[in-house]
Amino acid sequence: MNDLGELHRLAREIALEAGQLAALRRAEGVTIAASKATIADIVTEADREVEALVRSRIADARPGDGFLGEESGSAESETGLTWVVDPIDGTVNYAFGMPTYAVSIAVVEGSDPAAWQSLVGVVYAPALDELFEATLGGGAWLKGERLRVGTDVSAGALISTGFGYDPASHESDLALVHQMMPLARDLRRLGAASIDLSYVAMGRLDAYVERGLKPWDYAAGALIVTEAGGQIGWHAPDEAGRPMIVAGGPAIFDTLYERTTPAS
Ligand code: IPD
Ligand code: CA
Ligand code: CA
Repeated sequence: MNDLGELHRLAREIALEAGQLAALRRAEGVTIAASKATIADIVTEADREVEALVRSRIADARPGDGFLGEESGSAESETGLTWVVDPIDGTVNYAFGMPTYAVSIAVVEGSDPAAWQSLVGVVYAPALDELFEATLGGGAWLKGERLRVGTDVSAGALISTGFGYDPASHESDLALVHQMMPLARDLRRLGAASIDLSYVAMGRLDAYVERGLKPWDYAAGALIVTEAGGQIGWHAPDEAGRPMIVAGGPAIFDTLYERTTPAS
């Protein structure tokens, strides 16, 4: 089965169930389970539990599909399709009690992030009561409203960015902010890449730039951007191996992409 509508229905159903579990665990109180690469990079019990739920729902419904998740690793695909899952994107927000976190689920064809084609993307932010969704060629949607990127940056663009969790990379991220600032009306740092991308898709933000995202951070959100008429571009990895994503509508994309190109 490679029916986009069916894959979309399943992704949406799983994202809703997973988001509700995350919200319930948040209401009960959050326990930090461990730190990952740096001490600021935390994982909660809920991240693991939500990913386990998503993974088991996918395995039940689509046993041959591949899986790539932030918390539990990957399984190869027998069907050519892979589910790319961030169970809680915005874990630091989640742990601190901010509502800006989301379950991000994409279904992609292919296994190499540099070449795969996203077919379905769903980003569900339960504490905001917003579910962003897109299918390839079918547009991007929120609550039945079709999403379109912003078109007017005459007063400067509202640009979002992020700084990752590694203090060693903050200097170069601040240099990037410096580079972008002349184009900006103002900056935002939401703390959840999937929501940044979804906001670009609906014009709440004009653009988003960040280094060091992982495939599960952007697989769903990037499709939501392109299906809303926006563009996604990449700059080559820096010395720390972090590629840079640039997302925005046609009104800002080319200028911002050029402005953020690393000096060679
Ligand atoms: C993080 C968020 C954050 C971004 C980090 C990501 P996580 O994901 O998307 O906004 O700055 O690079 O790792 O760890 O909360 O799933
Ligand atoms: Ca993430
Ligand atoms: Ca996560």
